[in-house]
Amino acid sequence: MTSGPGTAVADPERAAPSATANPEHVAELVVTDRVAVAEGIVSLTLADPGGGELPVWTPGAHVDLLLTPELTRQYSLCGSPSDRERWRIGVLLDAGGRGGSQHVHASLQAGSRVQVRGPRNNFPLAAAGRYVFVAGGIGITPLLPMIAEAEATGASWRLHYGGRRRQSMAFVDELLERYGDRVELWPEDERGMLDLAALLGQAQAGVLVYTCGPEGLLQAVERTCAGWPAGSLYVERFVAKPVDDSAAATTFEVVCQRSGITVTVPEDRSILEVVQGAGVAALSSCLEGVCGTCETAVVEGEPDHRDSLLSEDEKAAGDYMMICVSRCHGARLVLDL
Ligand code: FES
Repeated sequence: MTSGPGTAVADPERAAPSATANPEHVAELVVTDRVAVAEGIVSLTLADPGGGELPVWTPGAHVDLLLTPELTRQYSLCGSPSDRERWRIGVLLDAGGRGGSQHVHASLQAGSRVQVRGPRNNFPLAAAGRYVFVAGGIGITPLLPMIAEAEATGASWRLHYGGRRRQSMAFVDELLERYGDRVELWPEDERGMLDLAALLGQAQAGVLVYTCGPEGLLQAVERTCAGWPAGSLYVERFVAKPVDDSAAATTFEVVCQRSGITVTVPEDRSILEVVQGAGVAALSSCLEGVCGTCETAVVEGEPDHRDSLLSEDEKAAGDYMMICVSRCHGARLVLDL
């Protein structure tokens, strides 16, 4: 889910920790529909088994699927926020992944039950008159409701959607049917890679760029938008971006202020692991600094940020940190735990 300014690359403007309705709410939902929407991609519709309303959400939000006690995965909601009875997610089978998508593809059928936490929104759509959306592969999912919202507000927008080949690109028919030629498809085997220099090479005042997809695409978009005004580019990452963690990890002390517990975090363990081990209630999900679930307020001390989510400004402010990956510059942190 994101990166930093300098010359101007903007960062995702994250929602405040409690900006979505119930980011910590867990419910057992039922899969009411499962559809193959592209090669290796299934769309699942989730609903309350009793027919009740689901929590509110906004475009860019994701939910955690608590697949097994050890396996939690995040998926963007890609249906309509106005449909309070159904959520839709899209899941790409990653045969070389860590098992989450394999579990979903193998085990979640129509009628299956699954524990779902959230929604949480780290990638909200900021108001603007013009947008450029850039999607790569399954990265189309968070952009679908954003595009619908941009359309509903009367904003001007374009979608540039790349994929390895047309059959591997999900929701293409739906997009073309709704939006016609404002959707530009870039199947790599037909057109080559997205021409980012042509699309984004010139900074455009008043235009916001939203992008989601594989790391290579996201870094290329960040480089191409380096000359855009700060705050123009919003990036959603599904996996952690490379972080310079070459500095030797150190041992430091963490004071959990609300719990009244103080722990020592050794070089080879995360703050999250240590505080959970000490009995402190701390939520987690991705364990790699992309989902925001473990975000914790910093009361004192200087965090060593190693996440892919906070903007450079947010990191500099040091008010919040992702305790699954981030550490401490110095000897002591006091956290709101
Ligand atoms: Fe996802 Fe820490 S658990 S950011």
